[in-house]
Amino acid sequence: MSGAGSTEARLEALTAVELAAARGELPSWSRITPKRREHMARVAALLEEWAGTLRLPEVEVLRWAAAGWLHDALRDEEPGRLVHDVTSEERDLPGPTLHGPAAAARLQGAVHPRVQNAVRYHTIGHPGLDRLGRALYLADFLEPGRPFSVEWRASLRDRMPQEIDPVLLEVLASRLQHLIEQRKPIRPETAAFWSGVVEERQ
Ligand SMILES: [Fe+2]
Ligand SMILES: [Fe+2]
Repeated sequence: MSGAGSTEARLEALTAVELAAARGELPSWSRITPKRREHMARVAALLEEWAGTLRLPEVEVLRWAAAGWLHDALRDEEPGRLVHDVTSEERDLPGPTLHGPAAAARLQGAVHPRVQNAVRYHTIGHPGLDRLGRALYLADFLEPGRPFSVEWRASLRDRMPQEIDPVLLEVLASRLQHLIEQRKPIRPETAAFWSGVVEERQ
């Protein structure tokens, strides 16, 4: 998408689903526990704060908050039920990562495609993620309620949103390292996300 195109997209009016989500009102098909809702609220609050610091237009600030609220809308649904919502290429994703593509499928036509894309790839990443998609990927990992690496993650939050891509590289390096140490596979989308961000900075 060209720079001019993305500016136009940013100024498009919010959809009803985005407007409701920005207030914390989720679609009726959501499946979340109260604890998950608290996590989603923290992710949405971080995104709203970052979008505000970046001085994005008000409509975009609300859209970033909506993405935070919507990203885990199906996180507590049985993965077996989500398999039927995703594309054939996504069907081999590990169960815990199906909720992104499944929520994106349910959001088709109801949110801006940029929100849909951010939700679809918030767990595994994707080289095509724009600034909103990258911010959601980071807010999900950096939100203050997670119990691990508290000081390191706080130090990365302090660098946001000004240093989004350097922080993204640190988070991606850590997550890839974790997958390797756990002898887990790395999705091609995740590897391409890493390579894309590295190459952009060279
Ligand atoms: Fe998630
Ligand atoms: Fe999440």
